[in-house]
Amino acid sequence: MSPKLPVLLRDRLGRLLESLRLSVTDRCNLRCLYCMPEEDYVWLPRQELLSFEELVRLVDIFTGQGVTHLRLTGGEPLLRQNLDRLVGMLAQNSRIADLALTTNGVLFADKAEPLKRAGLGRVTISLDTLRPERFRQMTRRDEHQRVLSAFDAARRAGFTGTKLDAVIMRGENDDELTDLIEFGRSNGVEVRFIEYMDVLGATKWSMSKVVARDEMLQRLEERYGKIRPVAETSSAPASRFLLPDGTVFGIIASTTSPFCRTCDRSRITADGMWYRCLYATNGTDLRKLLRGGTANASASREAADAEIANVIAEGWRGREDRGAEERAGRNDRGALIAIEELRRDPHLEMHTRGG
Ligand code: GTP
Ligand code: 5AD
Ligand code: SF4
Repeated sequence: MSPKLPVLLRDRLGRLLESLRLSVTDRCNLRCLYCMPEEDYVWLPRQELLSFEELVRLVDIFTGQGVTHLRLTGGEPLLRQNLDRLVGMLAQNSRIADLALTTNGVLFADKAEPLKRAGLGRVTISLDTLRPERFRQMTRRDEHQRVLSAFDAARRAGFTGTKLDAVIMRGENDDELTDLIEFGRSNGVEVRFIEYMDVLGATKWSMSKVVARDEMLQRLEERYGKIRPVAETSSAPASRFLLPDGTVFGIIASTTSPFCRTCDRSRITADGMWYRCLYATNGTDLRKLLRGGTANASASREAADAEIANVIAEGWRGREDRGAEERAGRNDRGALIAIEELRRDPHLEMHTRGG
């Protein structure tokens, strides 16, 4: 029997459901200033995390609803034991055209080969600074060397299309734009600068610490000369640019120039909450449905999956979120969520949402 063709689901603004970000743990081994600004955290209870079998089952249901791009995130996804086994299980799903991982790189060097063998397609490594002292200041951990080694490990393991993501904060690392471009060039990876976003857990955010895309471009032009945009239409969050020598880099301008209009992504937390926007405060509890909380509790696995598929389809059809655009329209912009609220619901944290 041939598998049923996946449906094409569109939300209220006509956006397709194509990309899913799957957080496999909320734990992290760094404490980046822009993501985890506090000392103490309320973590998701371990027994509530989805098992590999549950994660694979959910992904199968989502790919049946049109998802073709899957990205594993965290916290730091490599803190989840045996991640390569999960990758191997997910790689069996032929509907996934793009299986990617976002990592902070600390544990990547030893895992690069097993992940590649298991079927991981692509990796994006976060690195905000090339200076060890500054790395310690920005992440509150002493792991710079290990992160640097991740890029070489990715290449040796045979990964192509590797990206380096750097969040740029005024007064922290905004003097390193050209150094990061040079590092990317010599390591054969595409650098993407990310505007500091006023997302959920960024409790210390302020507009004065944001370096906008236009300012980044202006500073890079001073050094390299005329920069040209790469002509493309895609739902990727980064706009891409060309330096005069042909080097390509990207800028993710979610703060000053959001990409909500083409946003095809949604995200699942490690305990199975489904959010249809990075900024959304309400999600759908898919774990409850997976563990027998469907309307018909004694339903067969097939019937339960069909019911979950239905919940997803309805949820997506009703989606109107454009969180970043709404934030951009406000002139009283400050931290989005108060710390007390984050303590009450860890799902609102960026490290739980998966970046
Ligand atoms: P590719 O373009 O497929 O390589 O992936 P990606 O850019 O989605 O992956 P990545 O995890 O590297 O995301 C890059 C950054 O974009 C994140 O770290 C966030 O800062 C930002 N970002 C990711 N998802 C969203 C989103 O849903 N909304 C907004 N506004 N920003 C996002
Ligand atoms: N602004 C922009 N990007 C952020 N990330 C986390 N917090 C923020 C923020 N406040 C992104 C970083 C990191 C990824 C996992 O999440 O790009 O690399
Ligand atoms: Fe998509 Fe929401 Fe991010 Fe806009 S803010 S790009 S709608 S996830």
